[in-house]
Amino acid sequence: MKEIDADIVNKVNALRKALHRHNYLYYVLDDPEVSDAEYDRMMLELTALEEAWPELYDPDSPTSRVGAPPLSQFETIAHSIPMLSLGNAFTDSDIIDFDHRVRKILRTDDEILYTVEPKLDGLAVELVYEKGKLIVASTRGDGINGEVITANVRTIRSVPLLLQVNTPTLPSPFKGEGLGGGEKRNIPLRLEVRGEVFISHEGFKILNEEQLNQNLPPFANPRNAAAGSLRQLDSSITAKRPLEIFFYGVGVTDLRLKSHWETLQTLQELGLRINPLIRSEITIEEAVDYYKALGDKRHLLPYDIDGMVIKVDDLSLQTKLGSTSRSPRWAIAYKFKAMQETTRVLNIDVQVGRTGVLTPVAHLQPVNVGGAMVRRATLHNEDEIERKDIRIGDTVLVQRAGDVIPEVVKVIESKRTGLERIFHMPLNCPVCGSIVIRAKGETATRCINATCLAQLKERIKHFSSKGAFDIDGLGDKLVEQLVDKGLLASYADIFYLDAVKIEGMERMGARSAEKLACAIEKSKKIKFNRFLYALGIRHVGEHVAKILAREFKSLDNLLDATEKQIEAVEGAGSVIAESVVNFFKQNTNREVISRILDSNVCILFQAGEKERTLEDKVFVLTGTLEDLTRNQAKEMIEAAGGRVSGSVSRKTDYLLAGSSPGSKLSLAKDLGVEIIDQATLQKMLSP
Ligand code: IVH
Repeated sequence: MKEIDADIVNKVNALRKALHRHNYLYYVLDDPEVSDAEYDRMMLELTALEEAWPELYDPDSPTSRVGAPPLSQFETIAHSIPMLSLGNAFTDSDIIDFDHRVRKILRTDDEILYTVEPKLDGLAVELVYEKGKLIVASTRGDGINGEVITANVRTIRSVPLLLQVNTPTLPSPFKGEGLGGGEKRNIPLRLEVRGEVFISHEGFKILNEEQLNQNLPPFANPRNAAAGSLRQLDSSITAKRPLEIFFYGVGVTDLRLKSHWETLQTLQELGLRINPLIRSEITIEEAVDYYKALGDKRHLLPYDIDGMVIKVDDLSLQTKLGSTSRSPRWAIAYKFKAMQETTRVLNIDVQVGRTGVLTPVAHLQPVNVGGAMVRRATLHNEDEIERKDIRIGDTVLVQRAGDVIPEVVKVIESKRTGLERIFHMPLNCPVCGSIVIRAKGETATRCINATCLAQLKERIKHFSSKGAFDIDGLGDKLVEQLVDKGLLASYADIFYLDAVKIEGMERMGARSAEKLACAIEKSKKIKFNRFLYALGIRHVGEHVAKILAREFKSLDNLLDATEKQIEAVEGAGSVIAESVVNFFKQNTNREVISRILDSNVCILFQAGEKERTLEDKVFVLTGTLEDLTRNQAKEMIEAAGGRVSGSVSRKTDYLLAGSSPGSKLSLAKDLGVEIIDQATLQKMLSP
């Protein structure tokens, strides 16, 4: 047998320790010290050493998250303390009643202090740590017995396999004092800790794209996706799912704790991730106010929450209050309005998009879903309608999530009367009347008439949209009128409009017409990537347009490029290459481009790599900036290597706020995100 060199053992130990720490910094404190690339490099090095020296195997090594053999069934385990559910409240007066009840049982008139937490919409789990090691993880099950899902839970990156021994000083986002810098907390002999496993909106989107790519049915919502992922007998499947966790309570433990607030802080110090929007030591009135604030922010959060949990903070009072057989008397869930409602499908019609794709759309009996009226829902395509068996006249469950278009989740079959009608895709384009086709292996049905007015309208809307020419004032209704009146026969014609022609349109005053003419003039200076995106070439979205612009540098280069050359570009590939070459091969397209350039449109080509001073920094924008449009600010940030994200999270580095900022500002303040103005951004960018 090979003798193991002490240097190797030391190296392996050092790597394990460092990776353990970096996991904690990244997942729990949201404050990484090394880049992803550096982390990956350390992980690879450790994996290689462990493969070369199997004697050094350690089940708690940061590399040992995956690899357990598949199970034939789950074992069950009894929870030492039952995992109860929560009573629900729907109105402010339910909450005031709850507070009265609490004080009545405690026979006190004193004010009670509460801790409030977002109620995550995922699945409850219990993890048991013995002497700091993760021993077993289980589902809630029936509350008394759960299923053992240890191998699956180990694959969740934000679950520590070992608890944290030396706690660095916490940049606590919470009210109250954390442990001081030099103090150490003893690792508990036993810690049963409870939390919620969930999938973020972003993770859900990517997961469903992958499902579709593999011809598998998409998940209905993040919660179902999380449930399906957690109950896999083969943990290597779970490992590929973007599961996350937030911890919110404990079962049996030898930790000596006085309040729920102290419990949460201790969990965080031990390396267990806590939700950053928790508030502590507040009165019942403040809890009600916070419910409203949280409700306003709800759609900005990167994951689903369905309410706010209010918990009596003092643990001795919790013990006095006790529980019923179903739920504790010291806590209540104040639920938000549902983001799902049932309503009827009045009709189904078809919209024709820019590339000729026909999208079926359900016209619904108007229904209030979580505070917004929903009248229409996308049905995606023919296969989706068939899969969900949606018929005209059906009662359906509709759902709104974040900013996305509402969609039909499922049909309520028990409500069928037999009078429902099956929908068929039309054989002809509803706008131009030409025959539509559905290519083999594709889900999309298309109108292939290049002169179809519906397509033309959508192409022009796309051309003038934010990521493209960004022409302020050229709204959808106006585009439709201009096309119908014959003033726009291609997007190039936009640059041959003048104020007099525009003024002839309905609801167009002289001043608005003048303003639009100015906006068109201003849009004529355009960066190459935006120009490419504006053309509306199939498969060339904003991201691909940037890649092509960076690679080919000028329009002439790209016009001359062969499929092989484009295919060779990282991030492009054969489908994109074929689409680009086909687009530029067509004379009509070349003529339209010439007409655009003849109108003095000036394409700005990138001079070379600028200094990337904002490398990897994440920005979120809100409000109106002094004299930059949001798009211009976005471009400046991206040119310097930064990223712009739509929602504020703890991963956000800066919130760039202008005047009349939205609710993103208060969320950023809550999360301790640095808030900057336009002048500061410009200073950051100047060398
Ligand atoms: S405390 C005995 N806190 O809600 C109290 N639960 O209906 C136990 N949940 O099964 C729960 N976020 O899955 C608590 N911050 C939070 C929560 C939370 C989500 C879920 C959990 C539980 C259900 C109770």
